[in-house]
Amino acid sequence: MSRRFSPPLFFLFFLCSTPLILTQLNDDPTIKTMHDFSGYPLHDPSNPFKSSDSISNSLSVDAQTLQKQIDELSTFSDAPAPSVTRILYTKNDVLARRYIKNLMGLAGLSVREDAVGNIFGRWDGYEPALTAVATGSHIDAIPYSGKYDGVVGVLGAIEAINALKRSGFKPKRSLEIILFTSEEPTRFGIGCLGSRLLAGAETLAEALKMMVDGQNISFLEAARSAGYARDEDDLSSVFLKKDSYSAFVELHIEQGPILEKEGISIGIVTNIAAPASVKVDFEGNGGHAGGVLMPERNDAGLAAAELTLAVEKHVMDSGSIDTVGTVGILELHPGAINSIPSKAHLKIDVRDIDEDRRNAVIEKIHNSAKLIAKKRKVTLSVFKIINQDPPAQSENSIIKAMEAASKELNLTRKYMVSRAYHDSLFMARISPMGMIFIPCYKGYSHKPEEYASPQDIENGVKVLALTLAKLSLS
Ligand code: GLV
Ligand code: MN
Ligand code: MN
Repeated sequence: MSRRFSPPLFFLFFLCSTPLILTQLNDDPTIKTMHDFSGYPLHDPSNPFKSSDSISNSLSVDAQTLQKQIDELSTFSDAPAPSVTRILYTKNDVLARRYIKNLMGLAGLSVREDAVGNIFGRWDGYEPALTAVATGSHIDAIPYSGKYDGVVGVLGAIEAINALKRSGFKPKRSLEIILFTSEEPTRFGIGCLGSRLLAGAETLAEALKMMVDGQNISFLEAARSAGYARDEDDLSSVFLKKDSYSAFVELHIEQGPILEKEGISIGIVTNIAAPASVKVDFEGNGGHAGGVLMPERNDAGLAAAELTLAVEKHVMDSGSIDTVGTVGILELHPGAINSIPSKAHLKIDVRDIDEDRRNAVIEKIHNSAKLIAKKRKVTLSVFKIINQDPPAQSENSIIKAMEAASKELNLTRKYMVSRAYHDSLFMARISPMGMIFIPCYKGYSHKPEEYASPQDIENGVKVLALTLAKLSLS
């Protein structure tokens, strides 16, 4: 639906602003109270909005404008359409952030940014002293990816707030949208950088003082070029206190095929799988591709190739479909056809819903790396676990709110595990957490073919809006 103002809503809003008529309406048994639509008791008997009609019926999402915004945001990209590449603190990232801040302002939110560029847009509730309910996601995009990953949870959140405002809803707890900095690990190798810091990652805050990207640009220099971390090397100002929010809910495309295959509209995430990433370097002597005979070689590239196959084997041997492993980066030095690789660099991504099983796989990969290095007479100069995060669980009360919201909207739903990681994984450390998934075409993600239909996005935004409304009143 693309209605901005519906006559009945406008009429209702007018009535709500007239206390005398409101008192009369409150006596009318045909009018539903906020309690009716929220499912939660009202604590404030003088709430002027308690005579609103059922919000699930009056929510109108402007799917057309939202799609236009998704398309516009995708133009801030370092890759030609339909690919999107948007890397932390680059010019396009800064422009895209400006685009979002502008929309937050237009939605009437008060906007603030922290030292690493997490952006917060707040709609004050009528009891602003209560802890707020938060939602949000990311807008950075890995090289040659699509335009929906993360974006649906940011632009969709702004539209959810707009829809709630249009419906006449007034939040009790404040509602806050968060745009998280660098959910993707592309530039500095750390996924969920912004949300990790919000959750109080002290070792990361310390490490960022010295961290450099592939071009040897330091994190702080890059952040400053984007207007952040101006006068501070100490990023601990980003940390949020535990329980800063009463709830955090993220809307995201599924990034898997299940919802589409089963024809289900809404995924209610119960758990987020535990991600880990490992950096490996092998070093050999290199040499001339013609001159050095095969028995004389110590080829770092072959060691990397053998370890790549070992990753696949150990993952498959775990015996569970939930264990996955990927060698997403494999770089050879000097990278010439007629030169035996003297250095090989790999980054390995291993995930599982079972943390111990994932850790056992990493241990086996480490042993293989040592054996391969010995056999091929190369040096295993680096085997570094970059991150080894525990899984996260959604909070029961938020699962219930998401479920009730999708039921009231007559949307089919299914409990599911998130195999991708999300900022929610880290928000769960400081707040009760929940996630809403929507279907995406063939489960495609992290590639240009990524697609979610306007109808599925509209459904997700409605469920998000109604869930936020419920949580705001709880
Ligand atoms: C997030 O983008 C992930 O890799 O799961
Ligand atoms: Mn992603
Ligand atoms: Mn994402």
